[in-house]
Amino acid sequence: MKILLAGGAGYIGSHTAVQLANAGHEVVIADNYYNSSPEAVNRIQELTGKEIPSYDVDVKDKAKVDQIMKEHKIDCVIHFAGLKAVGESVQKPIEYYRNNIDTTLTLLECMKENDVHAFVFSSSATVYGEENPAPYTETMTRGRCSNPYGWTKSMMEQILEDASKADPELSVVLLRYFNPIGAHESGRIGEDPQGIPNNLMPYIAQTAIGRREKLTIFGNDYPTPDGTCRRDYIHVMDLADGHVKAVEYACENKGTEIINLGTGTPYSVLEIVHAFEKSNGIKVNFEFGPRREGDLPEFWAESEKAEKLLGWTAKRNLEDMCRDTWNWQTKNPKGYNA
Ligand code: NAD
Ligand code: UFG
Repeated sequence: MKILLAGGAGYIGSHTAVQLANAGHEVVIADNYYNSSPEAVNRIQELTGKEIPSYDVDVKDKAKVDQIMKEHKIDCVIHFAGLKAVGESVQKPIEYYRNNIDTTLTLLECMKENDVHAFVFSSSATVYGEENPAPYTETMTRGRCSNPYGWTKSMMEQILEDASKADPELSVVLLRYFNPIGAHESGRIGEDPQGIPNNLMPYIAQTAIGRREKLTIFGNDYPTPDGTCRRDYIHVMDLADGHVKAVEYACENKGTEIINLGTGTPYSVLEIVHAFEKSNGIKVNFEFGPRREGDLPEFWAESEKAEKLLGWTAKRNLEDMCRDTWNWQTKNPKGYNA
């Protein structure tokens, strides 16, 4: 199949591109490199031994997206091209709504005009909101989000569901990711956050390598076994494999499916820090600080639907996630543009 990866040079997109190409699919990347580097595309080509057509385009640019779809006769679109920094979305809500929703609408319009009928969407566990108890199951209704980033995901899910209801030809798979970490086992591609990392694992890795002085653990007074928050961390390569299955499912079915991509097992922040230290034989400086606004004490996935519908389960464990993160960090201490 021919698959357009909108935002395919980013963290999850680049790993997915490798696994799709390895599964025999043709991949086309459209990215404006707002939060990524063209070097990621070079590395995808190096890892797969395949030439990957890539375009430096803003996915809100309808004429350009239309041209790409015409040129490549696309079968399926995966939409990764979102702004994703939770804190920044509170400061810049209009930019977040504009970018995330406009890219979705543009892709849907271009798909309609070019007879492309399969859409896989990068959604998030954040849409379960504050009301739903863990584990999160796909039958729960979407909840209230604590920030504009989360609302863009919730709104985009609604838009996609409505679009597939109105068009019986359109197949939509809404993938709700839990907490992706890790990197390709080669250490050639990985997560390369710009500036100070917002997320836990890149902060740990940058602290371990000496780019940050110490990790602050946000809160140790939560109602969890050790007082720190618990999340469902998933290896990015498992997530990438989930996309391969989701694309194949979307191309063979119609309607909308919501699918969690998580492991079903939560780990606390302290457990992650200690697992990283143990797997890599290195100390991570940390201190406890106040809670971060908007953080929920704990959530994890009910992951049975992915297994039933896609035949997918996560295969890599926490040690793999810690080792592969560190392998990427030590081989690329300053990311792609070192
Ligand atoms: P990322 O920032 O590494 O990748 C997103 C890519 O999209 C980047 O390469 C960026 O340059 C590109 N992009 C953004 N806006 C664009 C536009 N208008 N036109 C063209 N390209 C554009 O992020 P990621 O971690 O790979 O996440 C991918 C998707 O998954 C995002 O939609 C994100 O919200 C979602 N998601 C991520 C996580 C996570 O923890 N990483 C969790 C849940 C959901
Ligand atoms: N944390 C720290 N110190 C840090 C960074 C994070 O203690 O420097 C803690 C957080 O408080 C939280 C846990 O580590 O308890 C995980 O935090 P992340 O920022 O790595 O991840 P979140 O669970 O907050 O959010 C992530 C994505 C969101 C997505 C959400 C649910 O960043 O985009 O998972 O899928 F919506």
